Formats: sequence, structure tokens, C-alpha cells
Amino acid sequence: MKVGVAKETVEGERRVALVPEGVAKLRDRGLEVVVEAGAGREYNLDSVYEEAGAEIVSDAEEVWSQADLVAKVRAPTEDELAHVHDGQFVVSFLAPVPGADLVKELAERGVTAVSMDAIPRITRAQSMDALSSQSSVAGYKCMLMGADALGKLVPMMTTAAGTTKAASVLVLGAGVAGLQAIAMGTRLGADVYAFDIRPETKEQIESLGATFVEEEEEQDSEPAQEEAEDEGPRPGLVGLWDELKLAFGVQPGSDSDSNGAGDASEDQDDEEDGEDTGGYAQEQDEDKQQRDQELIKARLGETDIVLTTALVPGKDAPTLLTTEMVEAMPAGSVVIDLAAEAGGNCELTQPGETVEHEHVRVIGPLDLPSGVPVHASQLYSRNVVSLISHLVTDGDDDGGGEIELDFEDEITDGAVLCHGGEIRHESVRDALSQGDKAET
Ligand code: NAI
Repeated sequence: MKVGVAKETVEGERRVALVPEGVAKLRDRGLEVVVEAGAGREYNLDSVYEEAGAEIVSDAEEVWSQADLVAKVRAPTEDELAHVHDGQFVVSFLAPVPGADLVKELAERGVTAVSMDAIPRITRAQSMDALSSQSSVAGYKCMLMGADALGKLVPMMTTAAGTTKAASVLVLGAGVAGLQAIAMGTRLGADVYAFDIRPETKEQIESLGATFVEEEEEQDSEPAQEEAEDEGPRPGLVGLWDELKLAFGVQPGSDSDSNGAGDASEDQDDEEDGEDTGGYAQEQDEDKQQRDQELIKARLGETDIVLTTALVPGKDAPTLLTTEMVEAMPAGSVVIDLAAEAGGNCELTQPGETVEHEHVRVIGPLDLPSGVPVHASQLYSRNVVSLISHLVTDGDDDGGGEIELDFEDEITDGAVLCHGGEIRHESVRDALSQGDKAET
């Protein structure tokens, strides 16, 4: 079986789906690898791919015509679609619901589309969880972006001319990206505050040296602690959780299963079944939502950088910052809205743009991992190798294995969007039929 790596062509995209380390791993499994010249840009040179066992070909067309499976970061573009062939596998981020039309096209061309963003976020699939690996990078980068955009020093600095105050950072949403942003903020010496609707994040936030934003009467209550002990971290947080445990001696309680991670897909199902509550569970009334918003608002007057990372799976991003709240921030402060692509957590966000509103800058970055292409690619490549290894059978003396799809397996079932001309995911079919209705 031959795996192909084409250069990413979307403007601004600097990652590559497989780095030489990944090529070597696939070669060890008996697979052949063909790489488009220059796919690894200036940091993964063709010669290093060759040393790892890849064959370098001059253009993308050759990769698409030779490969049984093409690994990409971004979904295939129109140009790339022209090269796909019947029976070929494509592995990339596919954004199954907004990308439903593309999935339909791939299905019509007989392609098996494997979506890195549809892999279930379960313990067994952690090593393939590209959403988490890329969110970790984005969380790190957004804190640096906030520090860079702020006209102040982030740490407290003592000089002969006096002492400057540490910047105050507020992180909204403490999932994968949020916790990395918090960790980075405290490393830079900021005073970091964070809020999440999941009370079990309190322990994780505090373990990173930040302050959990909550009502006074909640501060000493036990339930959040108990829940944290029951659940442990969500799958994408396991690496960071291990770091936390080492650094702060945190004991998450049950370390059952692999690293004690919970099954985030269960949370996801719960959310999807309910009405749109902006991330709040049904039993958390509007009153609680209102009180939380007041708490956040009260902090904004002394916050220099707000990093918003709130996400509700399968929904538009919840609005956490209204225009009025932004207006309450000090002059020169900055909002970095990671959820820009999903509609934004801030009312003023424009995806991919910087909006200057009165005295505050609201930045809606779209491709933060691409700003750290070396490590973002390395982590993504490990996710891809792990997924491909999951899909292929072990080889024999005559060569490498073949792909064998077992739809009884939760990972394969979740990740494969279309196969043999059939669209397998109900959510994609629903999105297509809604699109059809809208047209008529
Ligand atoms: P995640 O699912 O791990 O974390 C999201 C967190 O938001 C959860 O902890 C959830 O409890 C919390 N949340 C939901 N509703 C909330 C509310 N009303 N108030 C406070 N917290 C709330 O997601 P992850 O992987 O950390 O991604 C975060 C965001 O960053 C997503 O929107 C994702 O699409 C985006 N992202 C953006 C990138 C970029 O380049 N701009 C790159 C990677 C991720």
C-alpha cells in the first residue's frame, strides 16, 4: 500500500500531514510513502524525507495518481478533487457538517473519506486526536499573540525606574486550548483568571497557578472537587494533566482506564440531545448563566487580555462577550477569540480580522497552529500515523498490510464519513438534505 503526502495549498497553511519521523514509522509497517517535493517546506527538507524512506515526486498530480491513501491537513481543494480516483482513501480535517458537500463529492467519486475531526474523543483514540493536538498548539499561540498585541509587559518587572504591574489575563473556556493558554499565561508571569461552565475544571485551573472565577458562596463548596475526582481530565488533556501532576503533585483520584481520562463523547451526546443552552446543561438555569456573565463582567474592568476558547460540540460558539462588556475593558486591552471560525465567543469578532472597537482590539485568528508549523505538523503527523496504523492490517513476508475497515470499531465507524459511494454519517446526510431544502 502506498501513502501519499501532498503540499498544502490553502493560503497561509504551513503544516504538512506527515513529517519524516512519521514516514519512517509507516515504512517500518511495510507501507510505501510518496511525498510531493517541497511538501515539508523549509523545515522538513526533501532529503530528510528520502532518508526516512520516502520517494520524492515532482508534483501533486503524481502523488494523487500513485497513492492508495493521501494524507493531508486541510480538506481537498477543487484542484485536488480533480485528481482523486475511485477506491482512494483521503485522510484530513474535513469538518463533516459544514463540509457536507465535499463529502458528497468524494463519495460520488468513490473515495473513502476519513476525517481527523470526526475521530471520537475517547480514551482509546487519544493518540489520533488531532483536534486536541492542534488546540494545544493554538492555546499556547493565542497567549503569545495576546502578549504581543498588548502594549504592556506581561510579567511584573522591577527596574531601577520602578516596578510595573503584571498583566491580568482572563481565559474563558478551560478545555484543551484554554488550559494551555492558562499554562502559558502563568509561565509568562501574568495574573491569570479563568472560567468554564464545567465546575470540574476548577482544580485544573488552580493547579496551573490561575484563579477560577466563581461566586463567593461557590468557593468552598465540594461538588466540583468530587466531580473532578470522578472524571479525571478529558482525553485531549491527558498530556497536560500528566504535566500538572508532576509539577504540582495533583492527584486526580481515579486513574482507571488509560490515564484516567473520561469519555468526552458522552458529554458531547448529552449536549447534542438538548436545546441550545450556550453550553449550560438543562438543569443550569438562565439565572446561573446570568450570574456567571455578571462575574465575568466584574473582572473585565481590570483585564488586559481576554482569551476566549469556549466551544459546545456540534453548535455555534456561545457568546460570552457582548459589545457592552468589551466596552468595559481598559484602554489598550485585547481580546483573542479562538472560536472565531465557529462564529466567535465575542459579539464583535470578525473571523480572520482585527476589529478595533473604541479602545479595545478584538482579534479573530483562524489558523493558529499554522503559526507553529514545526511542532503542529509533528503532532498532527503522529495522530495520522496512529490512525493509519489502526486502519491497516499487519503485513506479511511479502510486504505491508492493507486497509481493512471494521465498522464495528467505534474509531473507524466515527472517522470514516463515506465509503463505497455511500455517505455513512447521519449528520452529513442531514446537512445535505437541509441544504437541498434551502435551495428549493
Ligand atoms: P474543548 O471542547 O476542549 O474546550 C471548550 C471548553 O469550552 C470546554 O471546557 C467547555 O466546557 C467550555 N465552554 C462551553 N460553553 C461555555 C461557556 N458558556 N462558558 C465558558 N466555557 C464554556 O475545545 P478546544 O479544543 O479547547 O477548542 C476551543 C476553541 O478553539 C474551539 O472553538 C476551536 O474550534 C478553537 N480552535 C481554534 C483554532 C484557531 O486557529 N483559531 C485552532 C484550534 C482550536
